[in-house]
Amino acid sequence: MIRSVVRGFGAALPKRVMTNKEIESKVDTSDEWIVQRTGIRQRYIAGEGETSASLGEAAARAALERAELTPDDIDLIIVATSTPDNTFPATAVNIQNRLGMRHGAAFDMQAVCSGFVYAVATADAYIRGGLSKRALVIGAETFSRLLDWTDRTTCVLFGDGAGAIVLEAQEGAGTKADRGILTAQLRSDGAHREKLYVDGGPSTTGTVGHLRMEGREVFKHAVGMITDVIEAAFEATGTTADDIDWLVPHQANRRIIDGSAKKLGIPLEKVVVTVDLHGNTSAASIPLALDAAASDGRIKKGDLVMLEAMGGGFTWGSVLLRW
Ligand code: UT7
Repeated sequence: MIRSVVRGFGAALPKRVMTNKEIESKVDTSDEWIVQRTGIRQRYIAGEGETSASLGEAAARAALERAELTPDDIDLIIVATSTPDNTFPATAVNIQNRLGMRHGAAFDMQAVCSGFVYAVATADAYIRGGLSKRALVIGAETFSRLLDWTDRTTCVLFGDGAGAIVLEAQEGAGTKADRGILTAQLRSDGAHREKLYVDGGPSTTGTVGHLRMEGREVFKHAVGMITDVIEAAFEATGTTADDIDWLVPHQANRRIIDGSAKKLGIPLEKVVVTVDLHGNTSAASIPLALDAAASDGRIKKGDLVMLEAMGGGFTWGSVLLRW
């Protein structure tokens, strides 16, 4: 059986750090409120010349280097982003061009904060279906450019960055002991689309728009949706919470992360948390967290790793993989 195995990983962050203290000078908020309600202490903000494509390219190059591969070895690029450099063409073809690739296929995936989980699930389907041998899966965002910097209920939460992995087709035995992606569980429910959205777009206002969120409403649904798709992944693979070596959640709010882990019975020592350093980087948050925990040696070859995300749409999903 063909499995999609992680062969490399990488990340890129803008140069500029913005602390909670700095945001205190922009809107009526406090470091204490932000830390207590979200766990966020700082975020990175893209400067001039830094875009989703430039950050995505840097993350992709780091992942290729770690995989000891070149762009010639890749036949598919999927970029999860809600903040493309242009409405079209896709940020994925922009990155393809920056990498000097003239072959293969490249496209974007739009599932907001669940984008990376959706992109990994899609690349896995391409690989298992024989349409791709090696895929670059990238989450790249510059949410700072969608924020209303006068709205304290949203501007304190988000940051910019990118992360990438290389997925490669490898033969597996078809058991849960295989390396690679064991299952992906995707869900969406558009009835919630106005709880977290951008109030502009090419087909409505002709503008980019600003992010709007009913934070409390999103919060209310988050833990239940996250635990639902993780339990579905356990059921699909015959695994339990005790088998998990690392939970790598989407990094929106420390309270959501802790609440989900607690409900599932996953000890907090097994949870990768980067929300304090990066804020919510939407589709980039999981690959940024993967890069952090795999670079410092926490996530090791053979570890069972659960990815999960929930966000705008609503969309939510999980991926269970053996590193
Ligand atoms: O990644 C996509 C998924 N997104 C999420 O998962 C976000 C989910 N939501 C959340 O993380 C939380 O709901 C927030 C962090 C957005 C807000 O936390 P909360 O505990 O739900 O606060 P709240 O919205 O209930 O607001 C509590 C109070 C309000 O004041 P009153 O009405 O009690 O007087 C807000 O006006 O906090 C006030 N407030 C702030 N105060 C200082 C809201 N934002 C701020 C702020 N600084 N930045």
